[in-house]
Amino acid sequence: MSDASYLSLSKLTLAYGDTPAVPDLDLDIRKGELIALLGPSGCGKTTTMRAIAGLMPVKSGRVSLDGADITRVPANKRAVGLVFQSYALFPHLTVYENVAFGLKLKGMRGNELDAKVQSGLKSVGLSTFANRRPAELSGGQQQRVALARSMVMEPKVLLLDEPLSNLDARLRLEMRTELQRVQKETGVTMIFVTHDQAEALALADRIVVMKAGKIEQIGSPEDIYSRPTSSFVADFVGFENIFQLDQGKLKTSAGLVDLSSQAPSAAGLAWRPRMVTLGSGPYRGTVRGTSFAGDSREYLLDTKLGPIKAEVDASQPAHALGAELAFDLPVERAALLSRFG
Ligand SMILES: Nc1ncnc2c1ncn2[C@@H]1O[C@H](COP(=O)(O)OP(=O)(O)OP(=O)(O)O)[C@@H](O)[C@H]1O
Ligand SMILES: [Mg+2]
Repeated sequence: MSDASYLSLSKLTLAYGDTPAVPDLDLDIRKGELIALLGPSGCGKTTTMRAIAGLMPVKSGRVSLDGADITRVPANKRAVGLVFQSYALFPHLTVYENVAFGLKLKGMRGNELDAKVQSGLKSVGLSTFANRRPAELSGGQQQRVALARSMVMEPKVLLLDEPLSNLDARLRLEMRTELQRVQKETGVTMIFVTHDQAEALALADRIVVMKAGKIEQIGSPEDIYSRPTSSFVADFVGFENIFQLDQGKLKTSAGLVDLSSQAPSAAGLAWRPRMVTLGSGPYRGTVRGTSFAGDSREYLLDTKLGPIKAEVDASQPAHALGAELAFDLPVERAALLSRFG
């Protein structure tokens, strides 16, 4: 086992009956890493997590953890913790008893048990809530109990499947910080599934973007945000102006646009609305829509290249509907896509 493959999925194939869900997945995760799994609904995030946890039979391929092949090891012998969106706390047990539950099953008793539970509660800031029942806690507090309950088992890997999606915006932000702190303090390896790309960007050491059971791109938050390598990822992270390239020429609704000397040998180019230069440049467009977003203003332009979305500082003079504007798509600012479609 190398450092880079503490948790390793190799050629992992998963299916529900005859319906394939994840074909041939390879993924290596370092010890202590916080990985975010990102991708549209149905792309196989939960399925992959269930296979790592041992809750789903593996059709073919291998899961290894800390140097051992665990592909056929039962879930309760894997040292893998799982926190779901619904925290599934025992309603009739107190916070303390909920956190103690798994440890007691392992046979832990007395002072050792008490010390573990107390330190677990402390790590999520719930020491003073030990005697309450789940119904007497807020959603965020319940989520923290679920986190403490998993953490006290000292898993080698902690899997979190959209753990924050039941929380309101403010609590989400709080819990996000909390998760990051607990992870850094304990050094536990974490895989975190989220629908929210801002959450993935804020939390993760690396982001894995999945599409239809396959990994589309793996990279640092900066890579994924600024350097998407496919049109799918570019679209997913908010590049709203995406064009295919045909031998250095931009494929647009009005035919090919020659990018002459600056044309890269990519399969496509993508620009965020922010990357479009408005007010100067070789192209012209007519303002078809405009919306004010506080710090910025967005324009939808009708152009020969097709619809273009541009965003500029709100401090710039506003343009009226129907106004004709020059604009540029600076190639040096574009994300270069190596795969299209
Ligand atoms: N119990 C099941 N039986 C049959 N097919 C299933 C089952 N669970 C999931 N699937 C299918 O497997 C594929 C992957 O589902 P999965 O739950 O892993 O997606 P996901 O990425 O977690 O989506 P979401 O973001 O909606 O949670 C989907 O096509 C889904 O319909
Ligand atoms: Mg899911």
